[in-house]
Amino acid sequence: MNKRILTVALLSIFAQMATYSHDGDTMRHWEIASPDPDRIVLTWNDDPARTQAVTWRTNDSVKTAFAEIAVADPSSRFDLSAERFRAKTQELDISRHDQNESVTVHYHSVVFKGLHADALYAYRVGDGDQRWSEWMQFRTASSRLDPVEFLYFGDAQNSVLSHWSRIMRAAFQKSPNANFSIHAGDLINRAHRDREWAEWFKAGGWVHGMIPSIVVPGNHEYDELTEAEQERRLSLQWGPQFELPRYRELPGALDETVYYIDFQGVRVVALNSNSEIDAQTGWLDKVLNDNPNRWTVLTFHHPIFSSGDGRDNSRNREAWKPVIEKHDVDLVLQGHDHTYARGHVPIRMMDTNESPRTGPIYVNSVSGPKMYEFMEGGWDVYRPEGVLLDRKAENTQFFQVIRVEGMSLVYKAYMANGELYDAFELRKNEDSSKTLLDWAPDLGEERLFENTMPYNREGM
Ligand SMILES: [Fe+2]
Repeated sequence: MNKRILTVALLSIFAQMATYSHDGDTMRHWEIASPDPDRIVLTWNDDPARTQAVTWRTNDSVKTAFAEIAVADPSSRFDLSAERFRAKTQELDISRHDQNESVTVHYHSVVFKGLHADALYAYRVGDGDQRWSEWMQFRTASSRLDPVEFLYFGDAQNSVLSHWSRIMRAAFQKSPNANFSIHAGDLINRAHRDREWAEWFKAGGWVHGMIPSIVVPGNHEYDELTEAEQERRLSLQWGPQFELPRYRELPGALDETVYYIDFQGVRVVALNSNSEIDAQTGWLDKVLNDNPNRWTVLTFHHPIFSSGDGRDNSRNREAWKPVIEKHDVDLVLQGHDHTYARGHVPIRMMDTNESPRTGPIYVNSVSGPKMYEFMEGGWDVYRPEGVLLDRKAENTQFFQVIRVEGMSLVYKAYMANGELYDAFELRKNEDSSKTLLDWAPDLGEERLFENTMPYNREGM
């Protein structure tokens, strides 16, 4: 090799190292943005029967981006009938957070509109020329009340690639046709740290591009950008990477963190349990009041009934529990406590001998590997609040498959090995009361730190 070429080659290697290293740590190849689309994720910001949003990332060389969509005909050249949509492109300087590399990336998003209900589509994203993703498929919501199946994940948060990926992938194996997946906050540990988002996207891989995500921020999606800064802000990546609904009547600080999606007779309401609690209370009341759906599921991060000592969220409970009970929300899916808890509020019938009916069911779950102890006495401290604990666990990662079909909702909590740990059926009666059929008593011993493998926080 001649000397000049060698010098140029060495300089370019050093330049790369300077760009991609931080504190002696080198970026892994799958963290580095390129002209090829990565971090492809489906979300909704509108009607899931008629629209579908997709977001992806490239390096900043891709200034104009496109998505193409076609009905997923089985013919091999289905793509010849594809329609092209121009993306909205947003620049993000991830070095605004002092622990990221000095890199500017581009996020692109398209909202496919005018889709047919209950139709299978294939789409791809790219630069409109040579740099395209593969064709990926999704199905729009039906306009009838067909069965709905969805996944739910409590906090992933830690060791997302090494230890959360098997949960995410086991969930896909258990429910490959899930209509959407709910992520109840703390998707990662350090809000702005790009490496952790890289892990979340690598762990889910192309599943994120096939099964739409309903995401809410946890406390770990908020952090200071720099050491000098006092204010904790929503993850830099959140807005650019998830295309979600916004409402004029909510404070701007809640943009894309508080919203609802109606899917085949199920209303899923996402709240932001971190801040602006009172502003959300009235909005929630309105959204539940004006709700034509048979089923209602609520998701947010900080649980109404905590399962760890010193982790009570009384302010959120005082604000939201009365609204949840007033509208008899069916299921409340939460995270934050790194334990598993499932309980319900029984509704006692005055002056009758009937067995108690069922009010809202509350679940705290964890999908990642960080584990806390369950508080002494289960939910005894919450007796005055009228809630009963039906099943709990420690030291176990979970994913849930929830299926709504007509008057029945079946909830199943699985462990990483695919075994069932908790399950129930909730039935709606003709008079709109509900009956809870608890299957947990047949599902074996309660998992606790005492009877499971040793746990160690080190290396998490
Ligand atoms: Fe949390």
